[in-house]
Order: sequence, then C-alpha cells, then structure tokens
Amino acid sequence: MLRFNKKDLNTLNKIISSRRDIRGNNFINKKVSKKKLNIILESALKAPSVGYSQPWHFKIIEDKNLKDKVYNQFEISYKKSFKKFENRPLYKKLKLEGIKESPINIAVFYKKPKKEILGQTYMKKSGEYSVVCAICNMWLTARALNLGLGWVSIVKPKKIRKILNVSKEYKLIGYLCIGYSKDFLKEPELKTIGWEKKKSLKESILK
Ligand SMILES: Cc1cc2nc3c(=O)[nH]c(=O)nc-3n(C[C@H](O)[C@H](O)[C@H](O)COP(=O)(O)O)c2cc1C
Repeated sequence: MLRFNKKDLNTLNKIISSRRDIRGNNFINKKVSKKKLNIILESALKAPSVGYSQPWHFKIIEDKNLKDKVYNQFEISYKKSFKKFENRPLYKKLKLEGIKESPINIAVFYKKPKKEILGQTYMKKSGEYSVVCAICNMWLTARALNLGLGWVSIVKPKKIRKILNVSKEYKLIGYLCIGYSKDFLKEPELKTIGWEKKKSLKESILK
C-alpha cells in the first residue's frame, strides 16, 4: 500500500495554498508544450465521479479567431453585469479573464449519460459536480507544473457552446485559460483588494 509522509503532505499543502486564479494581466507569451497539456488533462481523468460516470468532455481552443469570439461574448456579459455591481466601482477595474492572453483555452462540458448512473438518482447535479472535481485536479496540476489557470464564468454557456460548435447535449461547466504566469500572488486578489474577506474554519462550520 502506498503511504505518504509529512513531506508529501507539505508539498500537497504548498500546491493547494499557492494555487491562484490567473487572469490576462498575468499570463506571459510563452507556449505550453503538448506534454504539459496532456499531464493536466490526464489529471482530470483521475478525478472522482458519481458512479464512475466520468461525464467530462474537453474542447481545446488555441485558434485566435475562436478566442476572439469567446472574448466578445465575455465582454457583453461583463458589461451587462455593471448594473449588478453599481455600488462597487472597483468592478470596472477588475481583470476577470485571460481568454486572449493565454495560449490555451479549455471549455469543459458535462454530458448526461444515457443510462441511469449509480448515485445520481436523487442528486441530479452530481454529474456536474464530478466535472468540477476534474477541473480542480487540472487547476492543482497546472500549479504543480508552474502553469497558471483561470476560470471564466462571466459568459452565457449556450453562446459559448454555439461558438465552439458543440451540440446541445453538452453543458458548459467551466471555461479555462491556461498559460505561464508572471507571478502567483500569495493571497487571492479579491481578498487583497478588500472585495471579500477570508472565511475562517469556525465560520464555515454549522452548529
Ligand atoms: C466556479 C468559479 C468561477 C469563477 N469565475 C471567475 C471569473 O469569471 N473571472 C475571474 O476573474 N475569476 C473567476 N473565478 C476565480 C475566483 O475569483 C477565485 O478563485 C477567487 O477569487 C479566489 O482566488 P484564488 O483562486 O486566486 O485563490 C472563478 C472561480 C470559480 C471556482
């Protein structure tokens, strides 16, 4: 049986703590090798999934034209959200994606399996949660490779699916931007600038 030691735990903790969401103001113009991309994708396939359904599907986007189209969609959604954050002028200053600056974008989709899935009968969304587990593996593996990953959710899933020519049985779960990063901030940027406060363990536990 494989057993881990304190050093392994420390390494895991370091990777978890230093993972950051990387955006366009941080990506640098450096190609990511196919080998590294594969390591990231293979890590996704090792994620837990409800009933071992592995319902994830990845669309890799490197084409500038497609990225431009996705970016335009982001911009529409981003500007539409201005009203929601009217009382927070900082919103307009935030860089919230790295679609064009990152060499690789990955759209991660969920497809509902045709057969009944063990464990999904009552919690219908557990298939989608499984895809999120896969994305977390990718995020941490990217960090272990010193690569940045940013998650973009300020887009309309259907619009992105159409731009990418993906059929409607697939639901967009996350749009990811991957590339080398100038820096990995010590703390989440939204914490540092005072957008949100860090939640303690005590606050996270229900009584
Ligand atoms: C489901 C999900 C959606 C997110 N969407 C966006 C996004 O659209 N734009 C963005 O800049 N960051 C996005 N983020 C990143 C979060 O803002 C970030 O994880 C959080 O501020 C903590 O910072 P850290 O990831 O650097 O630790 C998203 C993160 C998650 C998990």
